[in-house]
Amino acid sequence: MRNLFLFLLIIQTTKFCSANDDGLTFSFEMHVQNGINDPIWVHCASKNDEIGEFHLQPGQEIKWDFNVQFFLKTMYFCHFWWNQKKLDNAFEVFNKSYYYKCSHQDGGNGVNPCYWLAKPDGFYFATTNGPFPGSDWTLVHTWTDK
Ligand SMILES: *[C@@H]1O[C@H](CO)[C@@H](O)[C@H](O)[C@H]1NC(C)=O
Repeated sequence: MRNLFLFLLIIQTTKFCSANDDGLTFSFEMHVQNGINDPIWVHCASKNDEIGEFHLQPGQEIKWDFNVQFFLKTMYFCHFWWNQKKLDNAFEVFNKSYYYKCSHQDGGNGVNPCYWLAKPDGFYFATTNGPFPGSDWTLVHTWTDK
């Protein structure tokens, strides 16, 4: 009887530790879009996840999925270059602040989307891909001179 009790306890513990949709891990979907009538260069990465460097044509986007455990410090940055205008900027497209902002919009399948849109006057953030200009989009960063 004592052995049976121990066995059940171990099964329970193992099940709890291996579950990954138990509310501890959240899925995000990052979109970075070029809303400028010129191609731009974009490099995005985190400490341990290289997304890559892309030559984004007008209207194109980069998209990647990632998981975040709420106790981990997940951070992604992107560096943007608008060479025709000699402008660039680099900033964190995802960090603790955006974890909370993006988490309020559940894509419906448990995925939380975040959108960044590069425009001539700067970089806009939204949690839905609504029409631009529109109330979804907020100007967060501007371009800086190289
Ligand atoms: C997150 O990144 C933004 C830049 O996009 C920055 O202004 C903000 O301070 C960062 N938040 C945290 C918690 O690091």
